[in-house]
Parts: sequence; C-alpha cells; structure tokens
Amino acid sequence: MSKSSQSIQPMLIDRFGRQVTYVRLSVTDRCDLRCVYCMSDDMTFVPREQLLTLEEISRIGRLFVELGVNKIRISGGEPLTRRNILQVFQSLGELDGLHDLTITTNGTLLTRYAQDLKDAGVTRINVSLDSLDSDRFTSITRNGKLQKTLDGIDAALEMGFKNVKLNTVVLKNRNHDETHKLVEFVRQRNMDISFIEEMPLGVIGDHDRAEAYYSSDQIRADLSKHYDLSATDETTGGPASYYRMPDSQSKVGFISPHSHNFCESCNRVRVTAEGSLLLCLGQEHSIDLRRAVRANPLDDEAVKQAIIDSMQIKPKGHDFDLSRPAVIMRHMNATGG
Ligand code: GTP
Ligand code: 5AD
Ligand code: SF4
Repeated sequence: MSKSSQSIQPMLIDRFGRQVTYVRLSVTDRCDLRCVYCMSDDMTFVPREQLLTLEEISRIGRLFVELGVNKIRISGGEPLTRRNILQVFQSLGELDGLHDLTITTNGTLLTRYAQDLKDAGVTRINVSLDSLDSDRFTSITRNGKLQKTLDGIDAALEMGFKNVKLNTVVLKNRNHDETHKLVEFVRQRNMDISFIEEMPLGVIGDHDRAEAYYSSDQIRADLSKHYDLSATDETTGGPASYYRMPDSQSKVGFISPHSHNFCESCNRVRVTAEGSLLLCLGQEHSIDLRRAVRANPLDDEAVKQAIIDSMQIKPKGHDFDLSRPAVIMRHMNATGG
C-alpha cells in the first residue's frame, strides 16, 4: 500500500468502537439573531483575536479528512457572518475524500452567498426556522425578520441545492402548534425538515426548559393526524431519524436527545471557533487543538496524532436532564450544535 493511500485509512475510532467520520467546524460564535433556546439576551462573544484563523480552520478540516472524515459541516453562531468565510468553503471543497460539505445557517445571508456556496462545492444546506409567523419569528429570534430567512431559503432553492432542510426547535406553547404548517411548507418546496428537542446548553434566561419540552413522539402524533408517516432507516450521517410520506419527496426528521438517545451511534466531533476540539456536545471533554496547530505549523502528523489521541477521551454519551439547571455552561452558539 502506498503512503498516500495509507493516510486516508480511517483512524478515528473511540474506546466504544465508534468511528468518527463527521466533523462540525464552528467558525464564529457571533450571530445576527438571538434565538431564545440558544443564547441569553446579553451575550459576551469571544474576542476576535482568540479565534482560529481561516487558514487554521481549513487546515484542521483537511487533517480530519486525511484521518477518514467524509462529512464536514460549517456552523456557528451564524457562519456567514464571519468575514471572508468563503475562503474556507473553497479550500475544503477541493479535498478528495470529502463527500459532504455542508452548512447550518439561519438563512439571513443566503441571498448574498448561495451562489458562491454552490460554486465552492457545498453539497447541502440546513436552515434554522422555527416559525412561519413573522411576529413569532421575531419573538423567538429576539430580533429577526422572517422575510430575510424566507428569501434566503428561496435563494438556496433557486441555486439548485437539493434537500435543503429546515431545522425547527420545538417549544411547547411557542411553536409546537406549527409543525403541520412547517411540513406543508417543506412539502410544497421538496425540502426536508428536522424537528429538534431543545437541549440544555448554557443559561438562556428566557423560559424553563422542562416546561417548554415537547417530545418528538408528541410531534409525530400531531403530524399523524395529517400525514401517513413511515419510519425509514435513511440517514444523512447526523442524529435525525427520518420518516417519509407516500405522497411527497420530503423527509421529516426527528432529533430526540431526550426521548430517543442516539449517542450509541455517534460518529461526530466538533471544533469550536476558538479551536477547542469537543468530543461530545453534551460533555466537557476536549483538547486544545488551537495550541496543537500553532505549536506545529509545519508538522501535520503531530496535529493528526493529537486528534487520534483525543478519541480516547470521547465520552459514551451526553447526560442531559431537563429537570436540573443546565450543567453545561457553554451556549449552543459557542459549540455550533
Ligand atoms: P444532517 O447532516 O442534515 O444530518 O445535519 P445534522 O443534524 O447533523 O446537523 P444540524 O446542524 O442541522 O443540527 C441539527 C441539530 O442536531 C442541532 O440541534 C444540533 O445541535 C443537533 N446535533 C447534531 N449533532 C449532535 C450530537 O452529537 N448530539 C446532540 N445531542 N445533538 C446533536
Ligand atoms: N437545543 C437544540 N437545538 C438548538 N439549536 C440551537 N440551540 C439549541 C438548543 N439549545 C439548533 C439551531 C440550529 C442548530 C445548529 O442547533 O436551531 O439549527
Ligand atoms: Fe444564531 Fe443559530 Fe443561535 Fe439562532 S440558533 S441565535 S440563528 S446561532
């Protein structure tokens, strides 16, 4: 076997035999919205000089691909608010071995960026959208304008992106009654949707997360009044379980960290905008990848070894409990989901 083919053999296997093939790179913790489940209304953001540079982010992405990762998702905060971020998509888009280059965005800047993302080789786009009612949307995002996100979704569809997917965090008495309307929206556009149970990350100060809990099973029961949903074993490599309807191309996904734990099949790690490699969304286990990258500017193998070694501390799973105050103080915008 030649040296180059050896270097693309999968090497990221944790203590539980799970292989990491999916990396989420958060490129900023900043955002133009303030979703109530994600942030508090007075956030302090990471000083810009502490962020990984765009070159460092691209290098980290490349090293992961050399270690067998085939899917990278760029997330935030809102990734499209990071200056010159297209550079990262362009350099990752050139990597052999990367099958899925994806982004999770709130959509507000897609009218500007959809074309460039397509040209850079982005394969799929997930857009966060919790309500189709403009007053509700503004209330949930604390300041957002629904029309900007809708225009962004249209721009992505016009650009020919397939499987544009909505992410909807469902909160009782806030948007739980809109799931039917949202499924109609995606069916009309041949999009997909994932409904997400809120996770207790960071203190948000808006609502009691236990009171706002609305389970995936409840959502499915509500939707079953309108649609014939059948479970599939399709996967996008993420945590959603997908359902299909006989009369539509759209998939309806459920991300159920509380009611249907998916940690057993976890295939992913994430890197924060500051360069912390987090081995689990719901735990603190991490290594300082920024330090490893800066200590080894020319030695890729040393950085790769640090990543391989980190697999030994990937925890078995999260420990979310809505009846307790958030134990993870990191807000979702710092992690990128
Ligand atoms: P696909 O590639 O379309 O499957 O996307 P994805 O679900 O992997 O990513 P996306 O950014 O759309 O995230 C949707 C939701 O899943 C967000 O709320 C994420 O926080 C959540 N999520 C993603 N990975 C994990 C994970 O490992 N653990 C938990 N608890 N939630 C996760
Ligand atoms: N729980 C669940 N999902 C969340 N997101 C942000 N904060 C939370 C939370 N506390 C979602 C966003 C976005 C994705 C990256 O994570 O809606 O779609
Ligand atoms: Fe911004 Fe996304 Fe957090 Fe909403 S969920 S505040 S859009 S980072």
